Amino acid sequence: MLSTRFAPNILVTGTPGCGKTSTCELLQRRLKDANYYNISDFAQQHECYDGYDEARKSHIVDEDRLLDELEPLMRKGGAIVDWHVNDIFPERLIDLVVVLRTDNTVLYDRLKSRGYHEAKIQENIDAEIMGVVIQDAQDSYEKEIVVELQSDTADQMDENVDRIASWSAAWLEQNPKGVTNELVERGSDEEDGTDEEGGSYGNSASSGEDGEDA
Ligand SMILES: Nc1ncnc2c1ncn2[C@@H]1O[C@H](COP(=O)(O)OP(=O)(O)OP(=O)(O)O)[C@@H](O)[C@H]1O
Ligand SMILES: [Mg+2]
Repeated sequence: MLSTRFAPNILVTGTPGCGKTSTCELLQRRLKDANYYNISDFAQQHECYDGYDEARKSHIVDEDRLLDELEPLMRKGGAIVDWHVNDIFPERLIDLVVVLRTDNTVLYDRLKSRGYHEAKIQENIDAEIMGVVIQDAQDSYEKEIVVELQSDTADQMDENVDRIASWSAAWLEQNPKGVTNELVERGSDEEDGTDEEGGSYGNSASSGEDGEDA
């Protein structure tokens, strides 16, 4: 069944410790009707697990099951999705991908103060240096919707929340008739003129990896 969303879905991603959850919690207060999904919690609440990774001491998320649970909620629009994995969500359901970035030494201190052991800290620092998360986002979504924001300080976090909130307001203004949740083939007849959304080619395949530590 064809359906439309009337508020944007925003994915907030980045290496563990970069400030996704802190940013999303502020953002949620600014975007009145938004629904916030912290995927680590969501997967647990909906039992979207497929075993346990002993080496990483973390549950392995069953991505198919996760999407089965999440997709109907995302189709309503106004979702803020918080996860370090970003390449599994259907492209047609995502309006903005925010990739938070953090300076290595700042990130080190944050992860250390969480009590992470050295190998886990190093794995995450390496991922941040190599830009694993931004690369995944750029490989999975149109570049126009991927934004990279620095998140080293509280002031930067406030600025980032301001920017995302302004972007959301602009989206609402530009899309008074909403955007489609369906796969639209580029170049096919456009019935409803929602061409800001453009054609979406849907779900980029998951790499099948669990991503880095959570
Ligand atoms: N921009 C920032 N300035 C100062 N402190 C920050 C900033 N962003 C996050 N922090 C702090 O860093 C810690 C980690 O932040 P947070 O839990 O939001 O990260 P996360 O990306 O959600 O991590 P995870 O992927 O493990 O859930 C928290 O103590 C938070 O207060
Ligand atoms: Mg978090």
